Amino acid sequence: MLYQALYVPEGGQPFPRDIIKIPEISRYAEGWGKRGDTGFVALDESNHLIGAVWIRLLTGENKGYGYVDDATPELSIAVTPEYRGLGVGTKLITHLLEQTENRFGAISLSVSSDNPAVRLYHRIGFEVAASGDSLTMVKRMNAESDD
Ligand SMILES: CC(C)(COP(=O)(O)OP(=O)(O)OC[C@H]1O[C@@H](n2cnc3c(N)ncnc32)[C@H](O)[C@@H]1OP(=O)(O)O)[C@@H](O)C(=O)NCCC(=O)NCCS
Repeated sequence: MLYQALYVPEGGQPFPRDIIKIPEISRYAEGWGKRGDTGFVALDESNHLIGAVWIRLLTGENKGYGYVDDATPELSIAVTPEYRGLGVGTKLITHLLEQTENRFGAISLSVSSDNPAVRLYHRIGFEVAASGDSLTMVKRMNAESDD
């Protein structure tokens, strides 16, 4: 799922498979189960994995591309190619936000500015907090951070 979460523009070269081992990428999933780690998977009717969404606090030397502050976890999401555009990603994020709204003041993410997913994030209420080749987007939640 971490590999599937890497955006490749239409017609672009896929990343080498072991790119997920470099620290900038692996830090989003390595040693899963740390305090604050929260995620959900989507399964098809045969129980095959077709998507996942997860959040993790990445702070200090471990900051991610979408770092905002030490209390704001970063969101990652992927849906397998054959299931994209069918509403799975929307369901996953909506569920994650419902389940975590009382735990965090905000959730952030980093997305290439040319990724169609920017539209999805806007629809769900993420706002652009910083922009360049990539956008940092933030969704404010009801709760104050518990950290
Ligand atoms: C982004 C992603 C998780 C969305 O899940 P999804 O199930 O396809 O999304 P939904 O069907 O619920 O919503 C459709 C929206 O997803 C986005 N989307 C659809 N196909 C996409 C694709 N191939 N790549 C990226 N985003 C896509 C668009 O914003 C679309 O909205 P639109 O109809 O207004 O264009 C999924 O498409 C994906 O895994 N893409 C590749 C990896 C990626 O870009 N991950 C996010 C990195 S920040």
